[in-house]
Amino acid sequence: MLHLWEYAFNAATLVAICTFPSTAIAAPSFLNGRDLNSFVTTERAISLQGVLNNLGPGGSKAPGAGAGYVVASPSLTDPDYFYTWTRDSALTLKMLIDEFINGNAALQTHIEDYVHAQAVLQTVASSSGSFLPAGLGLGEPKYQVNGTRFNGAWGRPQRDGPALRAIALISYSNYLIKNGESKDVKTRIWPIIQNDLSYVGQYWNSTGFDLWEEIQGSSFFTSLAQHRALAQGTVLAESIDVTCTGCDQADEVLCFLPSYWNGKYIDSNINVNDGRTGLDGNSILGSIANFDINALCDSPTFQPCNSRSLANFKVLIDTFRATYAINSDIPVGQGVAVGRYAEDVYQGGNPWYLITTAAAEFLYDAVAQWKARHNLLVDATSLAFFQDLYPTITIRKYNSASGNANSSFAQIMDAVTAYADSFVAIVEKYTPADGALAEQFDRNTGVALSAVDLTWSYAAFVTMALRRSGGYPASWGTRNIALELATCSASSTPGVYVPAVAAGAPNVTAPCSIAVNFNVDATTYYGENIYVVGSDLVLGEGDVDNSFPLGAGNYPIWSATAYLTAGATVTYQYARQEDCGHPWILESGTRSLTLPACGGAAQTTNDEITTDQGTSGNCGT
Ligand SMILES: *[C@@H]1O[C@H](CO)[C@@H](O)[C@H](O)[C@H]1NC(C)=O
Ligand SMILES: *[C@@H]1O[C@H](CO)[C@@H](O)[C@H](O)[C@H]1NC(C)=O
Ligand SMILES: *[C@@H]1O[C@H](CO)[C@@H](O)[C@H](O)[C@H]1NC(C)=O
Ligand SMILES: *[C@@H]1O[C@H](CO)[C@@H](O)[C@H](O)[C@H]1NC(C)=O
Repeated sequence: MLHLWEYAFNAATLVAICTFPSTAIAAPSFLNGRDLNSFVTTERAISLQGVLNNLGPGGSKAPGAGAGYVVASPSLTDPDYFYTWTRDSALTLKMLIDEFINGNAALQTHIEDYVHAQAVLQTVASSSGSFLPAGLGLGEPKYQVNGTRFNGAWGRPQRDGPALRAIALISYSNYLIKNGESKDVKTRIWPIIQNDLSYVGQYWNSTGFDLWEEIQGSSFFTSLAQHRALAQGTVLAESIDVTCTGCDQADEVLCFLPSYWNGKYIDSNINVNDGRTGLDGNSILGSIANFDINALCDSPTFQPCNSRSLANFKVLIDTFRATYAINSDIPVGQGVAVGRYAEDVYQGGNPWYLITTAAAEFLYDAVAQWKARHNLLVDATSLAFFQDLYPTITIRKYNSASGNANSSFAQIMDAVTAYADSFVAIVEKYTPADGALAEQFDRNTGVALSAVDLTWSYAAFVTMALRRSGGYPASWGTRNIALELATCSASSTPGVYVPAVAAGAPNVTAPCSIAVNFNVDATTYYGENIYVVGSDLVLGEGDVDNSFPLGAGNYPIWSATAYLTAGATVTYQYARQEDCGHPWILESGTRSLTLPACGGAAQTTNDEITTDQGTSGNCGT
C-alpha cells in the first residue's frame, strides 16, 4: 500500500507545483500526469483501507479494539487519540454503510459489529451519567477502545453523537427494510435508534460541547444532525409501525435552526459568549452531513445549494485565505487549505484534511442539487459567492436549457465544479507520497502533523470521492419538511430508555435514583468551567478527574441534573477548571445531601461556590 502511486509523485511534479503554485492548484492539467482523477481514485482506495486498519477487531493499526469499535487514530502521544468517539465512529460508519449499499458487500460484517458494539456502549455508565433512568450516559463522547468508560476530564456532554449514530443506523435499517428484513429492524436495531432519538428529543434544547470539544453552547453541526435524526426517525417508525419517543421535537429543532444565521453567515456556536466570530468549518460539515440529492435549495435544512449556506461558505473560506501562509498566493475563486476556525491554536492551529475535503464535497453536493433541479436561483444572499467564480453572474434564475452544453447554467456548473476540484488539488498537494492522511497539515509548510492516520480524515476523503463521481445516498425526505411553527419554544420530551438487549446490550437495570438539580452561584472567567465531585458514581466517586460538569445556561448560576442513588447520603464539593489542562481548584469544605428513599421527590441545591475564580491562562485564545 505504501508505494501505490509514488511513481506519479516524482521530482519533476514537485518542481512544477512549486513553480506555479496557484495555477497548478486550480487546473489539474498542470499537474504533469499526476492528474486529479487518478489521485482521487488511488487515495480513495488508500482511505477506505485506512479506515479498516483502525477498526476493531483485527484492524492492523487498532490492536486491542473490540469488534465494531472505531479507533480515532493510532496516535498514542501528542495527541493520544487511541480511543473511540461516538461522533467519529458514527460518521465513519455512515460512510461504510453508504459504500455497502453502493455494492461493497464485504463491509456488512463491520456494520453488524458496529450495531452490536453500540447497543452495548449505550449502557455504559460514565462521568456523563448512567444510561438509566434518563439516558444521560448517551451524551458521553469518548470511550476506551474495548468499550469501557474513559475516566478523565473532558468536554461533556456532547449531544451530536446519539443523533449521528441514529442517522447511520437508520440508513442501514432502510436498506434492510428494502430487502425484506423489517422484522429484524423492528426487534433488533430500532431499540438502539429509539434510545438515541429519546436522548435527542429530551436534550436538544440543552447546551453541550461542540464537535471540537471546546465550547459549551449550542452547535450548528449538532442541531442539524439532531433535526435530521428526528425527522428520519419519524418516517422509519411509521414504516415499521412503532411509536418514536422524542421525534415530536423535530419541528422545534427545525424552528431553532435559523437562530444560527446572523444575516451574513452561520454563527456555528450560539448560546455561549465564546469571543469568536463563529465562522467555523462546523457549518460546512453540518451541511454535507445533511445533504439530500432530492432537496429543494430553499429547504430550511441548510442544504449545500442553499443561499445562506453558500454565503457562509464564501465568508468562511475567505477567512482562511487570510489565516494560513500556504494560502497567501492563491486568488479568490480558487480552493485553499481549510481549518476549523481562524482563532484556532490547537496543535498550532492548522488546516485539516477532513475540512478541506469537506469544502470540496459541499461544492460537489451543491452542483448535483442544481443539476437535479435543472435550475439555479441566484439571489442577493448568494451573489457574492458566485461572483468570485463567474464574474458576469447576476441576480436571476438560470435554467439548464438542456441541449445547450454551453449555456450560462452549464458554465456556472463547470466553474463551481472546478472550484471544488481546486480544494481536492490542495489536499493532493499536501498529502504525503504514501497517501497517509493525518489530522492537520502545517499552515506555513504544508507538512502533515498532529494525529497520524486519522479515521475521520480517511472517511471524509471517501465521501468526497463518492460525491465527485456522482454517487449520492438515498433522499432522507427533505421534500416533506417545512417550517411548521410560527413561534419556537424551549421544549423537551422525556425519553424512554431501554437496553437494546436483542442487539446484544446487557439488560442493565436502573439503580433506583433521585434527580438532583445542582445549582451553584459561581462567577467564572471566560474558559473556566464548574463541576461537582462527590461520593456517587455519577459524581466521580471522589475523583475530581471524573467529576460531573455543570452548564452555564443561567450564568452566573451553573446547573445540571444528576441522577444519584436513592436513600444515600452524598458528600460533594464544587470544582473549577479551565478546559485546557489547568489544575483543579476544589472547595476545601465538603457539602452533604441526604437523598430520600426510592420514589422520593427530586432535590435541588442552591449553593454558592466558596473558591475564588482562577487566573485565566488564556488557553485557546
Ligand atoms: C479496557 O481498556 C482499558 C484501557 O486500556 C484497560 O485499562 C481496561 O483494563 C480494559 N478493560 C477490559 C475489560 O479489558
Ligand atoms: C431552546 O429553544 C429556544 C426556542 O427555540 C431557543 O430560543 C433557545 O436558544 C434554545 N436553547 C438551547 C440551549 O438550545
Ligand atoms: C461558450 O460561451 C462563451 C461565452 O458565453 C464563449 O466565450 C465560449 O467560447 C463558448 N464555448 C464554446 C465551446 O462554445
Ligand atoms: C430486563 O430486566 C427487566 C427487569 O428485571 C425485566 O423486566 C426484563 O424482562 C428484562 N428484559 C429482557 C429482554 O430480558
